[in-house]
Amino acid sequence: MTKFRSSLDGRDESGRAVKGIIFNLLEDMAESAGGPEAWDELLDVAGVDGGYSALGDYPDADLVALVAACSRAWGRTEFDVTKSFGEFALLGLARRYPAFFAPHSRTRDLLVSLNDVIHPEVRKLHPTARPPLFGYRSSGDDQLTLVYRSERQLCGFAEGMVVGASVHFGESVTINQSMCVHTGADDCHLDITFLGARDEHVPAG
Ligand code: HEM
Repeated sequence: MTKFRSSLDGRDESGRAVKGIIFNLLEDMAESAGGPEAWDELLDVAGVDGGYSALGDYPDADLVALVAACSRAWGRTEFDVTKSFGEFALLGLARRYPAFFAPHSRTRDLLVSLNDVIHPEVRKLHPTARPPLFGYRSSGDDQLTLVYRSERQLCGFAEGMVVGASVHFGESVTINQSMCVHTGADDCHLDITFLGARDEHVPAG
């Protein structure tokens, strides 16, 4: 039975909170990887209560503990888990919010609409959400650098979301983090190269 706990003030001691929908997407990923019991096992290992409702706010610390639990259970680094989660989450958001994707046909167009359209729309639907603000640098149509700075330091999640967007649009991209807060930089630079449609890269015959 799904239980929902009170979430009106789910912030941790530092006042940070993550929207419940993010936890719901992590639950979906855990269950698609490890079956119906996987989520409850992860909640136990992480030492958190669960019961996340999509519109609620829950402590950042819960997400950190759950990612660490996934990392131990799956034998993968936390960065790797966070990145896979970003990809899975983006594809889940595309199913839940098709209207945000409908105006776009390319990964690049979606990315450049994040600050002005998509994340502001998310804040209208979820007024307590705190999605990040990106910086943009570009030297041409096939290249874009996303500059990411957030206390949450979820650059792996951002990288995975870009991969998820490229899967959604049937494109190939490469992403190189030329700067990263985890190696001492002030912010993360995701240098993205857009390689065109995926099927253009499948060898003929
Ligand atoms: C490739 C495109 C996207 C990227 C790179 C991206 C990036 C991110 C990142 C890195 C976060 C974590 C918060 C932080 O770092 O402080 C975040 C949060 C979030 N994003 Fe996005 N995002 C993308 C698209 C979307 C879309 C399409 C939606 C909705 C349809 C969405 C909804 C959200 C929500 C609900 C949160 C949680 C905010 C909170 O808990 O306060 N994002 N996004």
